[in-house]
Amino acid sequence: MCGIVGYVGPRQALPFLMTGLRRLEYRGYDSAGVAVQENGALEVLRAEGKLDNLASIVSHHPAPGHTGIGHTRWATHGRPSEQNAHPHVDCGGVTAVIHNGIIENFETLKAPLVASGHRFTSETDTEVAVHLLEEELAKGRTLEEAALAVLPRLEGAAALAFISARDPGKIVAARIASAGGVIVGFGNGENFIASDMPALLEHTRKVVFLEAGEVAAVTKDGARFFRIDGTPIEKTPQTVTWDAVAAAKSGYKHFMLKEISEQPRAINDTLLGRVERSSGRVIFDENVKLTDEQVRALPRITLVGCGTAGHAALVGKILIERLAGIPCDIDIPSEYRYRNPVVTKGQLLLAITQSGETADTLAAMEEARKRGARLLSLVNVMGSEASRVADDVIYLHTGPEIAVASTKAYTAMLVDLYLFAIYLAQRRGAIDAEGSRRLLAEAFHLPTLVDSVLREEPKIRALAYRYHTARNFLFLGRGVNYPTALEGALKLKELSYIHAEGTAAGEMKHGTNALIDEDLPVVAIALKDAVYKKMRSNMEEVRARAGVLIALANDDDDEITGKADDVIRIPRTDELLSPVLAVVPLQLLAYHIADRRGNDVDQPRNLAKAVTVE
Ligand code: AGP
Repeated sequence: MCGIVGYVGPRQALPFLMTGLRRLEYRGYDSAGVAVQENGALEVLRAEGKLDNLASIVSHHPAPGHTGIGHTRWATHGRPSEQNAHPHVDCGGVTAVIHNGIIENFETLKAPLVASGHRFTSETDTEVAVHLLEEELAKGRTLEEAALAVLPRLEGAAALAFISARDPGKIVAARIASAGGVIVGFGNGENFIASDMPALLEHTRKVVFLEAGEVAAVTKDGARFFRIDGTPIEKTPQTVTWDAVAAAKSGYKHFMLKEISEQPRAINDTLLGRVERSSGRVIFDENVKLTDEQVRALPRITLVGCGTAGHAALVGKILIERLAGIPCDIDIPSEYRYRNPVVTKGQLLLAITQSGETADTLAAMEEARKRGARLLSLVNVMGSEASRVADDVIYLHTGPEIAVASTKAYTAMLVDLYLFAIYLAQRRGAIDAEGSRRLLAEAFHLPTLVDSVLREEPKIRALAYRYHTARNFLFLGRGVNYPTALEGALKLKELSYIHAEGTAAGEMKHGTNALIDEDLPVVAIALKDAVYKKMRSNMEEVRARAGVLIALANDDDDEITGKADDVIRIPRTDELLSPVLAVVPLQLLAYHIADRRGNDVDQPRNLAKAVTVE
């Protein structure tokens, strides 16, 4: 989704704006632009396509100025073009706006502006905001006064930032609704705004996160904060722990490959400090406020998450039901929010989200809250909306995930769900000390096991090169690895643009079998678990129809040798943890197929890292 950056201070704004936008490229975009303000004038530079196009314009025209805003656009209203790229300016060319989200009532607002002579130059919803601001500034108002007059009139989820030559040396930034974050960063005699931390990490870690309905007026000397109704508020800066190194590629060809490789360390960080040595009990920090009585009384848990996070939810249901015996259901947030869900008294809604900013997930949380559910979020990004609106928060602690395709956040989600299931089981007396010791010992062994899977990369790359021209792929799984099949298919689709389907293997005979022929590679997840024999039968069904079989098997499984065209081996672990190991080769397969096809691995077409619009 759209990225936002802003600078005000003694340095030239342009270098910060350009590097800041580079740090936000992972959010996904189709055009970009900057506006810089100095000496009563405003300059705007914009380009369709990649940031390099904008960088080339900037190199020939390095607009001077100490106050500026920059934007990467992910089109919603109006096709990707230079004309529709942000910033948009008013008729006088002195005030500029950038925006993330949708102004849902823009047509209603636009008509009277056009009638009174405002000239619109884009097809976007955003442009109305700057013309409305122009009217307010013409009344002699300051930039923040004008913004506070305009913002309540804009309907829909949105983050906006304005600068104006009429009120120089100031950025006004606003977060209107829950989706679309705005962070104010505090430097030494200079200050910043950004939609996401990676743009700020090289400059400061002292930040304020705007809540929905809050506005900031930022100058080089500091920031003043308001509610959208104009009431001044105090906000205390906090320090974020992520560092700039964690958000850099560190010699890897792509962020995705770096993040896949980081999984042993990320899983270790997720596990760290989560088990009390003396008692062997799973503990979470002060962000989980559930009491033991509340845990014992939990009647039900609904797990929600989009895309990859939704696949983690599917695994989470199995873990919690199996270990803690609490009935769980799963929902897709974009369905849950509109389908009048029934919420049981005292139940928990467990929202899983890497970014903590996914609009549908936030809306599902809001809906569940309205109906009386307690909210627990499993989230990576500290200070994100999902972490702030929830009653309880479990952080993934994996560090920034930059590639659009989620990898290390997914395995961290699985590990945290495993820990959470043991935590629930322990407090409900559903597991004895010996049982939990055994399960936890398996978890602590995971980093080493994932490391050994990563060492298979050369073989998986060779396999990827063999199959990179396939037009379709099928992934089969059962039980706790049915979600792994869905995740394998999603990774391949989003990165390689090859059509792929994940199926519960037992469902094949109800339709999917018709797809199988000698041109269809089928990845069968056939680990030595409770459904191994069933999976083997499904593999035979594929072979009988001349399908091309790639088996994902345990390294001590001799029976499978010769029963598939190719076999990828992974070590054995407890069945409930096997999705953590099984997904890693599928991440690598998707990565190498996409790279071999020459695709933009870190920023696949049409996708965004944090989906902050519906
Ligand atoms: C993952 O590879 C995808 N890019 C996508 O499905 C993602 O998991 C989804 O958009 C949810 O994001 P979140 O975890 O930040 O809420």
